[in-house]
Amino acid sequence: MGIHYDSKNKTFHLKAKDTSYVMGILRDGYLAHLYWGKGIGAYHHSNFLQYLDRGFSGNPYQHKEDRTFSLDTLPQEYPQYGSTDFRKPAYQIQLENGSTVSDLRYVAHTIFKGKTPLLGLPATYVESDDEAETLEITLEDSLIGLKVILSYTVFEQYNAMTRSVRFVNEGNQSIKLLQALSVNVDFRDAEFDFLHLHGAHVKERHIERQPLRHGIQSVESTRGSSSHQHNPFIALLRKGTTEDTGEVYGFNFVYSGNFLAQAEVDQFRNTRVTMGINPFDFTWKLETGESFQTPEAVMVYSSAGLGDMSRTFHELYRTRLVRGTYRDQVRPILVNNWEATYFDFNEEKILEIAEVGREVGIELFVLDDGWFGKRDDDRSSLGDWFVDKEKLPNGLNHLASDVNAKGMKFGLWFEPEMISVDSDLYREHPDWCLHVPDRTRSESRNQLILDFSRDDVCKEITKRVSNILASAPITYVKWDMNRNMTEIGSAVLPADRQRETAHRYMLGLYKVMEEITTSFPHILFESCSGGGGRFDPGMLYYMPQTWTSDNTDAVSRLKIQYGTSLVYPIVSMGAHVSAVPNHQVDRSTSMKMRGDVAMSGNLGYELDLTKLTNEEKEIVKEQVSAYKEIRSLIQFGEFYRLMSPFEGNQTAWMFTNKDKSEVIVYYFRVLAEPAAPMTFLRLKGIDVTKQYEHIGTNNIYGGDELAYAGLSIPIELKGDFQSKVWHFRQK
Ligand code: DGJ
Repeated sequence: MGIHYDSKNKTFHLKAKDTSYVMGILRDGYLAHLYWGKGIGAYHHSNFLQYLDRGFSGNPYQHKEDRTFSLDTLPQEYPQYGSTDFRKPAYQIQLENGSTVSDLRYVAHTIFKGKTPLLGLPATYVESDDEAETLEITLEDSLIGLKVILSYTVFEQYNAMTRSVRFVNEGNQSIKLLQALSVNVDFRDAEFDFLHLHGAHVKERHIERQPLRHGIQSVESTRGSSSHQHNPFIALLRKGTTEDTGEVYGFNFVYSGNFLAQAEVDQFRNTRVTMGINPFDFTWKLETGESFQTPEAVMVYSSAGLGDMSRTFHELYRTRLVRGTYRDQVRPILVNNWEATYFDFNEEKILEIAEVGREVGIELFVLDDGWFGKRDDDRSSLGDWFVDKEKLPNGLNHLASDVNAKGMKFGLWFEPEMISVDSDLYREHPDWCLHVPDRTRSESRNQLILDFSRDDVCKEITKRVSNILASAPITYVKWDMNRNMTEIGSAVLPADRQRETAHRYMLGLYKVMEEITTSFPHILFESCSGGGGRFDPGMLYYMPQTWTSDNTDAVSRLKIQYGTSLVYPIVSMGAHVSAVPNHQVDRSTSMKMRGDVAMSGNLGYELDLTKLTNEEKEIVKEQVSAYKEIRSLIQFGEFYRLMSPFEGNQTAWMFTNKDKSEVIVYYFRVLAEPAAPMTFLRLKGIDVTKQYEHIGTNNIYGGDELAYAGLSIPIELKGDFQSKVWHFRQK
């Protein structure tokens, strides 16, 4: 591991666990990308750059005599606009004279142990300086005094590196950033598939993979949040790469707002990958002396397929992105009243549900939307974070204490970023929402968005939420966000800074979350945006788990959880058993299958427990007690995908712990199939030299047998919506 600068050849060689990333300073200080992939001991330019005279690829001024030197044909590290590279740049500026050209050259670099935090932004971290090394390369446009500092961190334990960029205006005029991406990688071929996670509300993170083609393929969000529609993650896969073999380059943006991730295949079949804040409707004005920090992007390389890439993301995020008390603690099994009661509840009803929760061994009761203001439906009260004494006449403290008396913890729902037009807060401060002058304000779910780019708004909301949190024994918060941004503008920003609003909103939100989560370190926070509309590493930095989707149907969840697992740790995924017919898709699945799907994440229940039959209650009791036995394996183990729901009727995945002494395997079949082929599940990630005992039958199998011959799916599984679990312990 480490970062090495070869001053003779002017190359930087960054080594993560078994990954190398190499850059070189070319003549006149242009910074070129030379290699990223499997680790190499020492770099000696075997893949040297080829200088060719290519038609219509011009030559920067100093090289006008040399027609072979063009930025258009060389792999750039942080490409600029306007001086012969005609591909999409990584950044673009505008000067006071209106010009948009700039020219960056290498001026200096530093290498140091550890990793510095990004002020005001979420980012991966180290606990000891020996875990990582950081390189900062300073590029400069000397004509205008613009410095651009590229920051790279490599981790010793992971095939992962992080990147971010800082712009500093040291000139004597203001500079507008029109685009400031965090990552650029110029690959020297295009033999890749492009993989990304698309979706919609109640259908998040579905995997799509297609070959790269000439031109640009991109995913993005312009919704003001990372979104249900596209996750800030893309991967390039070598042709033929599978779950277990082949090269993968994964990119994930540690940001919760508008993003862009794209791959451009150019005329010579080079591929340029860029990722960062979406330049659409973004500018940032830098006065003399000011700087701008881009968010971080995490880049993971694997030579062993998608599964290995996922396990790197999981482990890195679980241990070096997520913070706080709950990072290393097993998560409580909860019951949430949303699908049980929606807005229609009172203290008595809540306590009735909690009572059955106690009987079946549930550990946490979560009171969802509807406990504040006069919120009997979704038309009012957001912003009025005061207890509704009609529904809860004895207040929250009383209710929470009663729940506590049943041996359960108490949690509460908030939607702090929102404001209802029908609220006292809006009546007092109609200018506190995002809006633009003279235009009507589009509502979504009958609500507007508070302008978190404003300090006064952030302070008031922090105060209101904190007051409630301090008023009762609350140990869990669900932080919801139920609409996307429209009419994005702020009443307090000048005209030439209006396009900063969406990013300033994110900075405000991060500040509020930092303050609240650190002031209440005993509270477990779960983020949510109509389920999985903001399932991103930015949110995970503040809140260690996310409500994966508003869709609680077990069959839909197979794809949603499988897709989510490509990047995000299992322990970050909230997964609940709900009633049937399912409220989102009207499907009826067995309690067993619903339980097995939910137990593959952070188990919870979201139904009216008082309506369970005795038989169902017994099943729930068994699920809860079984999950308590296995949850450390599920939440902190290694995750292996065996069969993909995107490829057929069957899904399977499994978990092992670090020392491979315990293994749990889940198999799901959606529909019964006539004349179905026999299926075997070949286990992964187990110790093939050891013996494993199947808990239940006490049968003993060699790890090699389980891995190579595999498990047969029992024919007793009959009918639709079947699931089966195997649990093994090493002998
Ligand atoms: C959307 C969430 O995803 C649901 O779980 C629930 O909390 C509702 N909002 C409440 O309004």
